[in-house]
Amino acid sequence: MSARTTITQVGFESIDVVAPLWEALFDHHRSIGAAGFAVIPRERTWALRRAHYERVFAGEANPTLWIARRESTAIGYAVAFDEFVAGSEGRMLETLSVAPDARGSGLGTRLMAAFDGEVRRRGLVAALDVMSGNDRAKSLYLRQGFEPHSEIWMRSRPAAGKGTEQAPASLSELVAQAGLQLTIVPGPDDTWQSSDRIAVLITSAIEAGSNQLATLEAIDALQRVGCWTIQVVMPASPSGVSFRMSLRAAGFAPCLERMVRR
Ligand SMILES: CC(C)(COP(=O)(O)OP(=O)(O)OC[C@H]1O[C@@H](n2cnc3c(N)ncnc32)[C@H](O)[C@@H]1OP(=O)(O)O)[C@@H](O)C(=O)NCCC(=O)NCCS
Repeated sequence: MSARTTITQVGFESIDVVAPLWEALFDHHRSIGAAGFAVIPRERTWALRRAHYERVFAGEANPTLWIARRESTAIGYAVAFDEFVAGSEGRMLETLSVAPDARGSGLGTRLMAAFDGEVRRRGLVAALDVMSGNDRAKSLYLRQGFEPHSEIWMRSRPAAGKGTEQAPASLSELVAQAGLQLTIVPGPDDTWQSSDRIAVLITSAIEAGSNQLATLEAIDALQRVGCWTIQVVMPASPSGVSFRMSLRAAGFAPCLERMVRR
C-alpha cells in the first residue's frame, strides 16, 4: 500500500464522502448473488444506508468512522460501534469496504487493524456480519481470528394482501412458547427488498422439536400483519438440523453469518 494512503478517524459530518464506497459494497454483494434474495434498485441504497448510519451515530455507543484516503480520494472506510456480543462487552465492525481498484493490496487489513487496536486495548469481544456467499471476505476474517458464531436466515416474501390484519393476541405468547425473542427493526433494508418493518426472531435453543411449530406459527402471524421480511437468528451450524430443514421448507435461506472473536 502506498505511503500516501492515510487512515483517519472522522465524524459523522464526513459520511457522504463514503457514498461511492458503500455503493461499491452493494455492487459486490449483488455480484455474489446477494445470498439469493432480490435486491433493491442501486439508486435507493445509499439513502437507506445513510439513514441507518444516522441511527447508529445517534443511538449506539462510541460510533466510529474511519476513512482511508489516497491523496484526497476516499478509497476505503470502516464503521464500528459498541454492542453486547454473546453476553460480553463488545464492539461491532458494522461496515468494511475498499474501492474495487484498491482491493487486494492490504488496505482492508489496515482498516481492520484500526478497529482491532481499539478492541484489544479495551479488552472487548469483536463481532461482524458477513453476507452468505461472501467467501473472500469470510476468509479474511477467519485469518484475523474470527469464528462463526450465529446464522441469520431470512424470508422476504411480499404479502398478497395489504397486511392490515391485527396482530393476534397470541403473537407474544407464540413467541415466548417458541423460546424466541422478537425485535422489530426499521426498514426497508438497504440491500434486499424488504417490508418497512423487519421482524427479527432470536433463538438460542433450537434443538427442542416443540419449539418449531410455535416458531412457524409466529412467523405466519408476523407475515399476516404485513411484516413480510422475517429474520431468524440462531447458533451457527451444525446445531439444529431439523430446525433448519423446517425453515427451509417454509421458504427461508441463510442471508448473513455473524462472526465473533473473543
Ligand atoms: C473485503 C475487503 C474490505 C478487504 O479489503 P482488501 O483491501 O481487499 O483486503 P487486503 O488487501 O487487506 O486483504 C486481501 C484479502 O481480502 C480478502 N478479499 C475479500 N474480498 C476481496 C476482493 N474483492 N478482492 C481482493 N481481496 C479480497 C481476500 O481474503 C484477500 O486475501 P487473499 O489475497 O489471500 O485472497 C475488500 O476486498 C472489499 O471491499 N471487498 C468487497 C466488499 C466486501 O466484501 N466487504 C466486506 C463486507 S463483510
